[in-house]
Amino acid sequence: VHGASHVFVVFGASGDLAKKKIYPVLWNLFKDELLPKETYIIGYARSKLSLEDLQSRWAPYLKVTDDDKSKFQEFLKINSYCSGNYDKTSDFARLDKMISEIGNCNRLFYLALPPTVYESVTLNIKATCMSKSDKWTRVIIEKPFGRDLDSSELLSNHLSSLFKEEEIYRIDHYLGKEMVQNLMVLRFGNRIFSPIWNRDSIASVVISFKEPFGTEGRGGYFNDFGIIRDVMQNHLLQLLTLVAMEKPPSTDAEDIRNEKVKVLKSIPPIVIDNVVLGQYVGNPEGNGEEKLGYLDDPTVPAGSTTPTFVTAALFVRNERWDGVPFLLRCGKALNERKAEVRIQFKDIPGDIFNEGKVKRNELVIRVQPNEAVYMKMMAKTPGMSFDCEETELDLTYGSRYKGIKMPEAYERLILDVFTGSQINFVRSDELYQAWRIFTPLLHQIEEEKPKPIPYVYGSRGPKESDELCATNNFIYTGTYKWSPSKI
Ligand code: BG6
Repeated sequence: VHGASHVFVVFGASGDLAKKKIYPVLWNLFKDELLPKETYIIGYARSKLSLEDLQSRWAPYLKVTDDDKSKFQEFLKINSYCSGNYDKTSDFARLDKMISEIGNCNRLFYLALPPTVYESVTLNIKATCMSKSDKWTRVIIEKPFGRDLDSSELLSNHLSSLFKEEEIYRIDHYLGKEMVQNLMVLRFGNRIFSPIWNRDSIASVVISFKEPFGTEGRGGYFNDFGIIRDVMQNHLLQLLTLVAMEKPPSTDAEDIRNEKVKVLKSIPPIVIDNVVLGQYVGNPEGNGEEKLGYLDDPTVPAGSTTPTFVTAALFVRNERWDGVPFLLRCGKALNERKAEVRIQFKDIPGDIFNEGKVKRNELVIRVQPNEAVYMKMMAKTPGMSFDCEETELDLTYGSRYKGIKMPEAYERLILDVFTGSQINFVRSDELYQAWRIFTPLLHQIEEEKPKPIPYVYGSRGPKESDELCATNNFIYTGTYKWSPSKI
């Protein structure tokens, strides 16, 4: 082949992330004709595999309908594979030769790899595989970006000794989700929100991530990492940042990322008194997996105190937000799957209705599932009575935008790397700030090993979490439940 415009190299091509996410995403982009023309894909891993072997690994995850069959044959033609070690420069030189034979092209390197080999792989990319002449090189990496501030700084310093910041793409896949991208438009494209988006009107902000399943055999990895590093320090903090940052001067990546860093700098490290740690136990009345607690997972070390549920109150010490708690809450083995941002407004001053009837307004940005934006509000009960009740102004995407195909987070993000948009990638100084906020807490938990509060598989989590929210100005009444099916 000659004259390629881009080559996309998947390191770790035989691994889980590659087969479950990266290849299916590349296929979807190819099928929808979104990849730049003349893009070629090279898988790289240690195992000696043929393209057919690789293909059989994709099979369960890559959707090919009868209509797509001939397109899929074309997709196969743009794929090849190179086996090699991660620490052998001569193997990378072979890879470079392979790329050069395809053409003088832009190069994207995706590290779908464990962090233990990041260092040698990036060194070897730099030594042998950078693009030539006027073409660019971009390197995409996945979390974990270290375990704490020091280890993350080591990695960042290593990367910045090899690549320019504009060549580094750190993925946080939450930034690729429709509703997360929507936050900027909702905030800065609506006059109705800007005057109330501050401590004068907002009582508290709750950012939740709930999953209805436990670790299911992934306990070994999870136990070492913990839910704070797994989702809170990255995904939830990113949501907080987008809710709390000031309006950037433009939608340029650097303008946005500057604002994100600025707001993070106003957040002091989390203190353990503002944190509730939980760990799930089996539900004897549940079915199958639900009967099993975290400690029953054979891959989890006996007596582990790793939390599977955490609620933490963070504070943004700036003029807009001083005193407004931001409650980040995440947990496994809970009652539902849901990720959302919930902004709770203050009580109505001088309530003229029966005391207690009027509930607080809430603006909810529902990230998943059933993407929606809704405002919980009071209205008169329809009919003769002059009672009032909770209801909502509802923008449920499934009914308002019927039939619109929402791209998957990874599809957007990978396309962003091709087009060179860094808006949705984490800059080094942003990552530094994120670790600064969490590292003292993580270290304290590791040293003191506080015993997490047990909660039952399938429940809402420990009641202490609700209590922490209540003392932080979030009122949960449980009197109202939004349901997308009502529309
Ligand atoms: C990943 C975490 O980053 O995000 C997983 O490592 C978690 O533990 C996943 O399940 C959730 O992503 P999504 O897109 O399914 O909400």
